[in-house]
Amino acid sequence: MKLVIEPAARLLSGTIAVPGDKSIGHRALLFSLLSSSPVRVVGLGDGADNGRSARAVTALGGAISRDGAALVIRGTGLDGMRRPDAAIDCGNSGTTIRLLCGLLAGQRFPTTLIGDESLSKRPMRRVIEPLAAMGAAITGAAGASPEAGALDVTPPLVVGPAAGPLTAIDYVLPMASAQVKSAILLAGLYAAGATSVTEPGPTRDHSERMLAYLGAPLTTAGRRTVIDPRGWDRRLAGDGFEVPGDPSSAAFLVVAALLAGAREVRLPGVCVNPTRTGFLDAIAAMGGEVELAAPRDAGPEPVADLVVRGPARGLRATEIAGDLAVRAIDELPVLAVLAARAHGTTTVRDAGELRVKESDRIATTCAMLRGFGVACEPRPDGFVVEGRPDRPLAAARIHADGDHRIAMAAAIAGLVADGPTEVDDADNVATSYPGFAAALVQLGAAIAAA
Ligand code: S3P
Repeated sequence: MKLVIEPAARLLSGTIAVPGDKSIGHRALLFSLLSSSPVRVVGLGDGADNGRSARAVTALGGAISRDGAALVIRGTGLDGMRRPDAAIDCGNSGTTIRLLCGLLAGQRFPTTLIGDESLSKRPMRRVIEPLAAMGAAITGAAGASPEAGALDVTPPLVVGPAAGPLTAIDYVLPMASAQVKSAILLAGLYAAGATSVTEPGPTRDHSERMLAYLGAPLTTAGRRTVIDPRGWDRRLAGDGFEVPGDPSSAAFLVVAALLAGAREVRLPGVCVNPTRTGFLDAIAAMGGEVELAAPRDAGPEPVADLVVRGPARGLRATEIAGDLAVRAIDELPVLAVLAARAHGTTTVRDAGELRVKESDRIATTCAMLRGFGVACEPRPDGFVVEGRPDRPLAAARIHADGDHRIAMAAAIAGLVADGPTEVDDADNVATSYPGFAAALVQLGAAIAAA
């Protein structure tokens, strides 16, 4: 699929309900499988990645039905999962496969996990190593990691069977990864003692919030989370989850509104968990204004309406590093597009994790910006963008390398180019935001999928 975008001819305007948060959606599905009573989930996104987790739930013995706007998930409880009939296909979804590794590590049956071409190249040693230290049996294929020739372990994976309870560990994460953290916490539910995970940076904490909400024996102090199932009745239960809007999807529309200008662009009910709002802090540092209106809580997550108003204004370059890079990790490609229109040189550091996303996003972000005539220099742990605020970007034909966030970032850049932009290999936009092009059209942009 190809996206074709025309330069924005007027201010954007409208109210868009962005899809339910992808990270929270995966967890709502997979944690509900562990629940001893039915869980109602409202607002689940329609992206293909969440669909992969939904299919995993049914493959493992859960049942999913629709009741009006809600999905009702009848789980198996912690100890009632059944061996799936076939391999579970995780598609493009790193969160599905890594969380399943943790969930399945303590089961008494083996499960095979497979993925698409991109997922089959992504490093799994990061999750296998700690789970193996807990006594889990996990095997995979030998694959080349994108990181400088190192060998890693890649899907297909076979997880389990476990011979008995897992061994509790104290694990210090070598990289800032919420997926790895979550896998260890899930395996910790099947361990004989207290398992702890200490993280180097503030990764998204949805697992901690949502597991605690369901009654899991979990406590967090600073960067350390402990899960201790000893003396617990092994029952998770809850009324349900309201999945808030996905800030990672909202970020594309926010940047579109800042670049093209907005009469008023309103995105209601977006998750504003501080582990996810690094992009808003980076935008503020660049001089962009985004209002957080009507703040409230949706179960364990804070939400607000994101509102952008006014003509495109002069933006200034910034530096994104340290904790901020962790809190904005999925939004860095679209922040790079904003930086391309800012005065000065923007530097992104401490973001080496970008190398192991759906594509090597340091390479693909720089290639994308260069396609628009913007100087973008890759660095081992980030990139440097030379802003060119005084003239439009050069209309481009971009290859998205099958990466949904690169495709959407390129489409947004096309709004401020000097002619029509084409984005090839954009099918995977459907993994997180199937309605992306329709949302831009609703805001008044000219974009078509061909
Ligand atoms: C996610 C964690 C992050 C993020 C991904 C979703 C999650 O990945 O980039 O899009 O839902 O836990 P890592 O765990 O690899 O950092």
